[in-house]
Parts: sequence; C-alpha cells; structure tokens
Amino acid sequence: MLETLQQLPIDPILGLSAECRADPNPSKIDLTVGVYMDEQGLCPVFEAVQRAQQALVAEETSKAYMPPAGDEAFNLGMRRLVLGADSAALRDERVTSLQTTGGCGALRIGAEVIHAAAPRARVFVSDPSWPVHIPLLGSVGLQFQTYRYYDPASHGVDFDAMVADLKSAGAGDVVLLHGCCHNPSGADLSLQQWGAIADMAERQGFVPFVDMAYQGLGDGLERDAAGLRLLAQRLPEVLIAASCSKNMGLYRERTGLAIFVCRDAANARILLGHGLVAARRVYSMPPSHGALLAGRVLADDALTALWRSELAAMCERIKGLRSSLREKLEGACGRDFGFIECEKGMFSFLGLTAQQTLRLRREHSVYLLDSSRINVAGVNAGNIDYLADAVAQVL
Ligand SMILES: Cc1ncc(COP(=O)(O)O)c(C=O)c1O
Repeated sequence: MLETLQQLPIDPILGLSAECRADPNPSKIDLTVGVYMDEQGLCPVFEAVQRAQQALVAEETSKAYMPPAGDEAFNLGMRRLVLGADSAALRDERVTSLQTTGGCGALRIGAEVIHAAAPRARVFVSDPSWPVHIPLLGSVGLQFQTYRYYDPASHGVDFDAMVADLKSAGAGDVVLLHGCCHNPSGADLSLQQWGAIADMAERQGFVPFVDMAYQGLGDGLERDAAGLRLLAQRLPEVLIAASCSKNMGLYRERTGLAIFVCRDAANARILLGHGLVAARRVYSMPPSHGALLAGRVLADDALTALWRSELAAMCERIKGLRSSLREKLEGACGRDFGFIECEKGMFSFLGLTAQQTLRLRREHSVYLLDSSRINVAGVNAGNIDYLADAVAQVL
C-alpha cells in the first residue's frame, strides 16, 4: 500500500534553510525561516522563560495528561495579553479558549470549529499570505478565496483593492487577517483600516479570524494588538489563533492558544465544547511544557516585567536592523529602500526577481525566499555589509 505514494516536493521554506545549512561557504547568510536571531546568529531563550523553567523543573511532580483545554494560568494570562486586561469581551465572559500545539494548532482548531458551524464557509486569505495557511486550514475541508493585500509598487497595503475584494464576503464566510507583522510582507493595516474592516464585518456579517503570531515584535505588545482588540470590542464573533513561538521564544515547545470571542457567555461554553471535541479528534491533550512556562511568566509580576523588557529590546533591535539595512542597501545599490523602515516585524520583500534571488543563493550563499522575502532578524552587524554588497551585485 504505502509504496504507491510518490515523492513530494520539499517545503520551499524549510528546503531552502536545509540547503543553507549544507552550504560550506563561511559567509553564508540564512534569511529564510521566521526565527528571531540575535547578534551572534542564535535564537535565544528568554531569561524570564529560563527562570520559569528552573522553578518548574524543581517543582514538577507529575507528567500526567494536561486538562483538555490546557493550563488554566496560561489560558487566563494569554487571553488578557491578547485581548487586553480591560477587555469588555473578557468582562462579559463571552470569551473562551483552549491551549493548542502552537499557533498552527490554534489555526487548525479554529478551522475545525468553523467547519462544524458552516461546512460551506469560504475563508478569505490575503494575497500573499504565509504559505502554510491554506494547506493548514484547507485540510479540514474549507474553501478559499484570496483578497488583494500587498502592493509591490508602494511596498504597502493596497487597501482599496482589499476592500473591493472583501465586498463579496458575507454571513457564513470567514476573513483571515494577520494581527500584526504581516507574513510575508511586513505591511500592516492602520488602526483606521482595522476600523473599516470592522464596519464591513458588521454590515456584511463575515467573521474575522485573526492570526496573531508576532504580538510584541512590531510596535510593542499593546499597539500590535490594537486592531484585533477593536474587532473584539465591536463584533459579536471573532476567532483568534495566538502563538508564543516568537514573542516568548517557545518555538519548539509548540505553545499556542485558540481564542473564541462569542456572542455571549452561553455561546462561549458551547464553543469551548466544540474546540475540545476538535482537539480530541486531532491530538487529544495539549503538550504541557511551553504553556506551563508561559503561564508562569504571565502569572508572576516580576517575570512578566522581565519578559516584557526582553521582548521590547528584541522589537527595538529589529527596528534598528531595519534602519541599518535601509542605509546599507541604499549606500550599496543607490536606490530607495525606505520601505524597509516602514514595515513591521520580522519580514520584508526586498523587491528582487526570482532570478536575482537565485543568483544571491548561487553566487553569494545568501538565502532568501524566491519571492525575495527576508527575515530581517537574520541580519546582524557581522553580515550586513556582505548582504548589501551581494544585493547590489545582483541588481
Ligand atoms: C503568520 C504565521 N502564523 C502562524 C504561525 C505558526 O506559529 P507556530 O510556530 O506557533 O505554530 C507562523 C509561524 O511562522 C506564522 O508566520
């Protein structure tokens, strides 16, 4: 039976990263995968997480299953982090959540619940979007439609086109939005534009599904969540997939939360039941380690303050890298790269052709996606000049 299966193409992002690892050139630069790297090119463990881990290891007495909805402190802390401690939806108890295997698990559980409620729902996905969105949500059987989002000419959001394309989304449809730090473009909606999307959702009846994978890495924890919070305040229903991979550095611990903002408390209880049944069908109970660490950080004032300051430093460093990269590229290439400074989070399209990115790879061992998306956090003082010169040469 199994021998009938054919070889599948390698995942484009993971494949390029593997190619980079195998490249013997000591000057190679990996700007492919969305992982935060420090000046030494390492993905660090947060000090606050280290401290929580030491305490957890010292105190942990059991490896029995987690409750199906996961750790309570984690759920509580994350709901407040994402929606804001003063959220009216939280106060009205119309929010429920369950711990998931990373942001991916939250997207999948959200998709399962959407499918249970509306099997014929169309999910509107930005063009471009993170390439995993459609396979991940599509595995449940949902249908997709793309909406225009990114304008390569201005390197910003083409909001008129987005609005025009979302005009056909109605009741029973879902619009997938990036909460902040749009992956792959780094082009985010302004708060005013989030307001316009809320107006459309109210008028047309579609439900927003917000993928919040980078809270804190764009403009800080509160500002990055402002658009999402506006939706949660104004709309009866919002789905959220939150991740602690990037903002707590818990990538491999697979730590995420599916959040359902519902019409009322009774509906929230029903939604939790559906989320739990979906999780039971897919993986039963969530893993514990990452959520217990994040839950401890969020429940302890001193650890929270430490984590917030570490995250703020990360965010500032990314902004600094954006300025330096702009300066170096403009110096080396003699053209405008000002857009890099306007974008948010870890990603940017450099605006190169697939041929130019191939040359970067082949001739300079500089690895970025064919779309010319780079992980800005892969840049550092040691590789920025080499990168700028390499880009100048292929241009
Ligand atoms: C836009 C987006 N959503 C979700 C995720 C999933 O994150 P996790 O590793 O927590 O599953 C990622 C990870 O790169 C992402 O870029």
